Amino acid sequence: MATEITTPTKLIYMTDSYIQAMPATVVAVIHDGEPKVDGTRSVSVILDQTLFYAQGGGQPADQGEISGPHGKVAVSHVSYNGGAILHKGSLEGQVAVGEKVSLHIHWPLRYKHMQLHTAGHIVDQAVKNILPGSKSIDGNHGIGKKLSITFSTAIPETALPAIQKEVNKIITEAGPITFEMLTKDEIISRSIAIPFDLPSNKPLRILQLHHYPPMPDGGTHLHTTDESWPITITGVKTDAGNTLILYQVQEPIPSSSTVAAARLSLVELKKKVAEILAAAHQDLATPEELKTTYLGKKGRFNDLAQMLRQLTPQDRKAAGMILNELKTQLEQLITERANKASDISGKWVDLSAPGQLPRLGHMHPVSQAMEQITQIFEHIGFTRVRYPEVDWDHYVFEALNMPSNHPARDEWETFFIDAPIDKKFGKVVLTAHTSNGQVREMERLNSTPPIRMINIARCYRRQQDATHTQMFHQFEGLVVDKGITIQHLKGTLDYFAQEFYGPGTKSRIRPFHFQFTEPSFEVDFSCHICKGTGQVDGKDEEGKPAKVKCKFCKSGWHEVGGAGMVHPNVLKAGGIDANQYTGFAFGWGIERTYTLKPGLNIDDIRLLYSGEMKFLEQF
Ligand code: PHE
Repeated sequence: MATEITTPTKLIYMTDSYIQAMPATVVAVIHDGEPKVDGTRSVSVILDQTLFYAQGGGQPADQGEISGPHGKVAVSHVSYNGGAILHKGSLEGQVAVGEKVSLHIHWPLRYKHMQLHTAGHIVDQAVKNILPGSKSIDGNHGIGKKLSITFSTAIPETALPAIQKEVNKIITEAGPITFEMLTKDEIISRSIAIPFDLPSNKPLRILQLHHYPPMPDGGTHLHTTDESWPITITGVKTDAGNTLILYQVQEPIPSSSTVAAARLSLVELKKKVAEILAAAHQDLATPEELKTTYLGKKGRFNDLAQMLRQLTPQDRKAAGMILNELKTQLEQLITERANKASDISGKWVDLSAPGQLPRLGHMHPVSQAMEQITQIFEHIGFTRVRYPEVDWDHYVFEALNMPSNHPARDEWETFFIDAPIDKKFGKVVLTAHTSNGQVREMERLNSTPPIRMINIARCYRRQQDATHTQMFHQFEGLVVDKGITIQHLKGTLDYFAQEFYGPGTKSRIRPFHFQFTEPSFEVDFSCHICKGTGQVDGKDEEGKPAKVKCKFCKSGWHEVGGAGMVHPNVLKAGGIDANQYTGFAFGWGIERTYTLKPGLNIDDIRLLYSGEMKFLEQF
């Protein structure tokens, strides 16, 4: 074997024992014998730097893989050879001097070695704390072997419980395990105990377990003592004048939470950072989307920041800086993308293209209906007025021939206002209909007809379902003059029907009862779907063409409201002489009137007040 190779291999694990993979360059490949039948070959590879721990100091060698562009070595053993590290294993394909290769160590194995080695130091320290003056001379940290620390001094068996307690204490202290490179002279000048002979021609590594006395050590160790698996002192044995402390290290059965809390190394963190940056650079989504994916609350940056907990306390500061840098870079990338997106230089721009119009709102459908109704009546000489929505009982009921306690009032599911009762006008109510405008209009005109009023206002009733809302609108017509008859009423209704619903729409009045009109009617408008016939073309039970019931009206007509000739008592309440003048009145809901319009298919009037833009934008 080529023992003459002395190129020193840089020992990366000496400074960071948590690196699991890295690149290296092949310095030498030594073939040990001829290729085997399966084509593999035993080799020893020397690299410029390595992650593989060479057996020594009681710690076994690492295993793993060296992979190059044309072949790979399954590393089964690692040893020193005059400064160079020999990676022994089985080669598949070719590995040549000068080639860049990547190194991967078998991490679970290495980590166990680290656990066992650090455990040895913890036991050693525990014994020294309990029995000052104890001298350790050797240790065995190999997997599958009896773990032990050899002392040249005596240890009584009775000290074992105290040693066990001390071991537990050192673990829970969570002390850091740190390293320093010193020359032999420096070690001596600092009076650090040297248990065995050390070379004086190269820097040596000193391990410091928490605040305990430092000692030379070349192994791989945990970051902190609390990372240690539980250690049990199992016994003490004398052997050729020395005392061996025997112990066991138990790998905890990982629960899902401890798996999640598994240690993360800075190297892994950096790898993740690089992955995120690479992904962000390749991600062609919009700047906004990038922001959510990478910097959003549930974005990749925050995901990574969450993992900070998995780092050892002494790594957290460095990790914080790495994360800050990542954040800055992501922000920069997104800003650059956003700038690029808004940068039109070099892009083809059509300056003649029509601009984007600002979105225009429009009137609410009920307001549109109110406008239209107002116009229709203004054309035939009506004047639009508005009266209070919070009014006296007097105008809402009393003056309309409905004295208090009159059962007819029950029809108007009224909201009463909690306010002082007026001697003359009574209680305060939310107007349950627009008929309160009748006597108010007569008073406004000093009881002097002609009156042609259209009163549109909000009304309130204690009712709510698909065809009623607690707040709704009514419009009220009132005409008072000499010689006004039912014909005028009917003519006005027909006129409105045609104007509002379209030519051909008819009105129909049916006898009814209201206290404030005599005679009273209910007003219907003919259905625009079946043209007032109540039947449409459809199919009978056998599927043959036939006339079927109009689903929209069911009868050919839609009932919309009430009307009648103004009751003499109402004229009287408004100061008008019922012997000289007559009048008619009508009134009904705007929402209902509106939803019956051709083309609208609104089966729930509550939609009108839902604030649902998708619905409202259609009108
Ligand atoms: N005010 C009545 C109602 O709300 C309708 C109506 C108005 C009836 C005018 C006759 C005259 O039902």
